[in-house]
Amino acid sequence: MQPVRNIVVLTGAGVSAESGIATFRGPGGLWEGHRVEDVCTPAALRADPALVHRFYDLRRAALGGVAPNAAHHALAALDRAWPGGLLIVTQNVDDLHERAGATRLLHMHGALLSALCAACGVRTAHAGALPPGSRCAACGAAALRPDIVFFGEMPYAMDRIVDAIGGCDLFVSVGTSGAVYPAAGFVEWANDRGAATLELNLERSAGSDRFDESRLGPAGELVPAWVDELLRERR
Ligand code: APR
Repeated sequence: MQPVRNIVVLTGAGVSAESGIATFRGPGGLWEGHRVEDVCTPAALRADPALVHRFYDLRRAALGGVAPNAAHHALAALDRAWPGGLLIVTQNVDDLHERAGATRLLHMHGALLSALCAACGVRTAHAGALPPGSRCAACGAAALRPDIVFFGEMPYAMDRIVDAIGGCDLFVSVGTSGAVYPAAGFVEWANDRGAATLELNLERSAGSDRFDESRLGPAGELVPAWVDELLRERR
């Protein structure tokens, strides 16, 4: 096998589970009692903006009570230490990767601590509640919405993701069920490109068969062990 130089890490809700943030499809998760169609589609936002804004207000407020776990810290340590290419692509909208110190990071499904202007498309940092009708500082329209990529919308930065996977030698997926595309298809892109592929997940996922190797267990144990192994091999 070629020595690893360029790495892409995809993370999902499982990486934040040990921090106390519920996953979507696990027991007790499931969108905190809401149906996806009611809170995470453009149609839901049009039909009941108060409900959709409140759903994300609660999730934004909950960030104050959680902290990065060992998996976030290990990925941030990898980011600091890895001399080659690295891109951490997260599907998560929490800020735990950046709080741990990761910088080579991209939020493909948006971010709770950001607001998106539906009128002009500008994204601005936003903490606290975001009531419907909040005004955009850039264009003045009363059109700010949660900066969350809803089902049916295009994830952010797909061109950067395509480039990074197209140039990686190792693709690692952490804590994602492999249920939602396009992220669920990244492992195939990595396989097509000839990269090694590794899954770190609590249980077998919809995509497990597509990885060269699948390690099962909590991210808080598996990710630090994998990062140690990688950095040790590098020395
Ligand atoms: N360590 C590792 N994996 C875990 C842990 C843990 N401590 N706890 C749970 N998991 C695994 C679960 O077994 C599951 O396979 O994490 C995965 C979480 O899956 P989902 O809840 O489906 O979350 P995710 O894959 O991130 O969802 C993708 O779907 O609803 C949309 O936009 C939302 O970004 C989200 C996308």
